[in-house]
Amino acid sequence: TTPLRLGIAGLGTVGIGVVKIVRKKADLLQARTGRPVVITAVSARSRDKDRGVSLSDYAWENDPVALATRDDVDVFVELMGGHEGTAKAATEAALAAGKDVVTANKALLAIHGQALAEQAEANNCVIRYEAAVAGGIPVIKSLTEGLAGNQIKRVMGVMNGTCNYILTRMQDAGLPYDKVFAEADALGYLEADPNLDVGGIDAGHKLALLSAIAFGTKVDFDGVELEGIERISIEDIKLAEDLGFRIKLLGVAQLTGRGLEQRMSPCLVPADSPLGQLKGGTNMVVIEGDDVEQIVLRGPGAGEGPTASAVMGDICDIARGLRLPTFGIPAKVLVSAQAATSNST
Ligand code: NDP
Ligand code: HSE
Repeated sequence: TTPLRLGIAGLGTVGIGVVKIVRKKADLLQARTGRPVVITAVSARSRDKDRGVSLSDYAWENDPVALATRDDVDVFVELMGGHEGTAKAATEAALAAGKDVVTANKALLAIHGQALAEQAEANNCVIRYEAAVAGGIPVIKSLTEGLAGNQIKRVMGVMNGTCNYILTRMQDAGLPYDKVFAEADALGYLEADPNLDVGGIDAGHKLALLSAIAFGTKVDFDGVELEGIERISIEDIKLAEDLGFRIKLLGVAQLTGRGLEQRMSPCLVPADSPLGQLKGGTNMVVIEGDDVEQIVLRGPGAGEGPTASAVMGDICDIARGLRLPTFGIPAKVLVSAQAATSNST
């Protein structure tokens, strides 16, 4: 049987997680997909860094674009991050060379998803990105596969673990925002640009991706009404608690009579509800469909194991020959977010 050959660009938290799974679980992956899944080449900024796992079996490329277009790579696994520059250039190069792409990069897809999806389809390639939304929770598969027969009414949830950690820690320890922010920083939770987390931007990227799949709309990150958690005070949290509520950075997406509505903002949720009880870096996504009614998905939204788990699920789907369009339906069929209304579906 023909092996599926991976080229992995980015050997940080997620990339090394993926390398470890491919090395440790070769038999399981072959049994599940019917073919060997192997790494042929890798790339990162520094070749000399000790990453705690041997990379000597793999070809090294300094340039991710060169990695993405190698003849011995079938799937370009983009785990570098960033929505411009190298990640975008390498992803485009991979698609132009006819390679499938697996990525965890929500920023890249939230901003360039439509163009990349069109490029993928023009080249008969697929782009998979389960890890980009809610880490280890298979929410994209749920929407594109398990719930494919439903008309989706609403998608909502907590999609940034760092913000949920900060808010629950303020709540549980009675500590002010600045102190908990510094704690989150020391624990390494924050993105390189912390504003992506606390400004709600990262969660907004994720909501924009889910909206596109749920409602068949072009990804519209600019259309997400964003408000971060920077101005939440300990007094706000205490007052909410006195009234029986908790404050969560909650995303909500639904079709209205005036187009797609997407909001990511601090919201009051009942303290004893599943969302109110959500602690630490855990994520929760609630999906409402006309037939399924409501489902609730809960799990780790980040970290090496959970995120690599989602990346591997995508790789296994490609190995099995599953070739869904990027947003569940062909890119050219997606309508603009303004044109889609609850009246028309
Ligand atoms: P890290 O910062 O841990 O790792 C990034 C890796 O990319 C590093 O190995 C770095 O090289 C490499 N890299 C960065 N820029 C370049 C470049 N220009 N050329 C070559 N290599 C480059 O990031 P994460 O593993 O945390 O995240 C990777 C992706 O996964 C991001 O898109 C992130 O948003 C997403 N993600 C991460 C989650 C998490 O829990 N960490 C959860 C969900 C998604 P070097 O090591 O040499 O510096
Ligand atoms: N910074 C993100 C979070 C990482 O805290 O949820 C996972 O996407």
